[in-house]
Amino acid sequence: MLILGIETSCDETAASVVEDGRIVHSNIVASQVELHARYGGIVPEVASRQHMLQVVPVVERAMAQASASWDALSAVAVTHGPGLAGALMVGVNMAKAVAFARRLPLYGVNHLEGHIYAAWLEGERPDLSPGFPLVCLVASGGHTDLALMDGHGRYRLLGMTRDDAAGESFDKAARVLGLGYPGGPAIQRAAEGVSPPREELPRAWLRGTLDFSFSGLKTALLHRAQAEGHALGLQTGESLPLGRVQSLAAAFQDSVAEVLAAKTLEAAAQTGARGIILGGGVVANTRLRECLRAQVGGLPVFIPSPQLCVDNAAMIAAAAYYHALRRQGDGWDLDILPSLRLG
Ligand code: KG4
Ligand code: ZN
Repeated sequence: MLILGIETSCDETAASVVEDGRIVHSNIVASQVELHARYGGIVPEVASRQHMLQVVPVVERAMAQASASWDALSAVAVTHGPGLAGALMVGVNMAKAVAFARRLPLYGVNHLEGHIYAAWLEGERPDLSPGFPLVCLVASGGHTDLALMDGHGRYRLLGMTRDDAAGESFDKAARVLGLGYPGGPAIQRAAEGVSPPREELPRAWLRGTLDFSFSGLKTALLHRAQAEGHALGLQTGESLPLGRVQSLAAAFQDSVAEVLAAKTLEAAAQTGARGIILGGGVVANTRLRECLRAQVGGLPVFIPSPQLCVDNAAMIAAAAYYHALRRQGDGWDLDILPSLRLG
């Protein structure tokens, strides 16, 4: 079964052709990062307009790279939530147009579920080995969710962030340190080579729950940076010396990575899960990947390669394959759901 996936929920226009939820024939991602970087974050109107300009060429490129004829497609899949309303609409309308023109079934996919199904695109199939139930951490720019997956498309939410998402906290921390947008990769680069013993920032453990909180950490970082800037007589807008920025970036990254890894392992222990799946842009973070791998013991852990952690459409086509195995396609009334959740 060959599925064309389309993803436009945030700031990447993406299309991909995937066979049987597993074999990636093409994976095209047109990033808008440079466009939004000058504003220091995503501007929804700019994102929608850019998707409108990019979506047709991106789909054409995905079909060409896959050397797929339109007749070979079995279905069209698209992210219909969560995400920015205007951005989602562009992808959903494109998917409807293709499905209508080619008389193909149409599948609306939850973007967060897509991040989980990225784990099906490489290595062992998690549903076969070790099998369900699996604990899934989705850490992205808009979400930090821990869920128990006990079958295809079946999720029970175990914990979520009570304030900022992990990716959002990286983006805000990078702004405080004058490192620009997007913050995650910038913080990771700045933290590279900072050797132990490392400076520490607080961790919000929220003991007794599997929820997260990252806004206190961001405030602690802001206060430390402001106090030091003040002591050095820096003017507003001037950055701390490079060594201090690097040390604070490493401290911030350690704090987020350690909490994400520890809570994910705690969730697996509490639920008796057979394995762990990580997904979402923040999972591209090397420190988080190291932290989890170092502590996971014998439990199988699936961590997609960085280009499949960040937004892409292959993960949407992969998730849709398992929808297609168990249900009919959606109707033409498929709507966007900007606040869609897991489970
Ligand atoms: O999943 P994603 O590509 O888009 C959303 O669904 O939001 O995640 C984007 C988020 C951004 O906040 C970005 O700063 C963060 O993922 N991110 C990272 C890294 N690469 C991307 N955070 C930490 N370390 C990274 N290497
Ligand atoms: Zn995402």
